[in-house]
Amino acid sequence: MTEELYPLALQTREQAFAPYSKFKVGAALLSESGRIYTGCNIENASWGLTLCAERVAIFKAISEGERKFKELWVVADSPRLTPPCGACRQIIWEFCRDVPVVLADLRGNRAEYRMSQLLPEPFDDSCL
Ligand code: THU
Repeated sequence: MTEELYPLALQTREQAFAPYSKFKVGAALLSESGRIYTGCNIENASWGLTLCAERVAIFKAISEGERKFKELWVVADSPRLTPPCGACRQIIWEFCRDVPVVLADLRGNRAEYRMSQLLPEPFDDSCL
């Protein structure tokens, strides 16, 4: 668990554009090169166009040329720890494969999973 990702995800959570749900999420993604990419959720009046924090972080990293990742953190303030949604699980698997995913809240709670626990029997290029 790379604790230094927590303050970065927490800080980026403050940039969330979430006027509709009021539910702010921050993510921080550590690449194998050692760089850290952050993301927050970005909502839209057309709700289905909303981007989750995890996908923003991943797409930022991919667009910078990164292809291998070591760890992903997701921070939200919720009654139970917020796991990635189904759409994000598919995207995380595509780009980060069996990466450790740490869920955290603002009260110091943490839980760590592997992506293979969160997305068993994934659909990916090995199926094609
Ligand atoms: N959200 C994320 O950004 N990441 C998650 O893991 C769960 C959900 C966002 C999407 C939407 O802006 C808000 O949280 C409520 O669903």
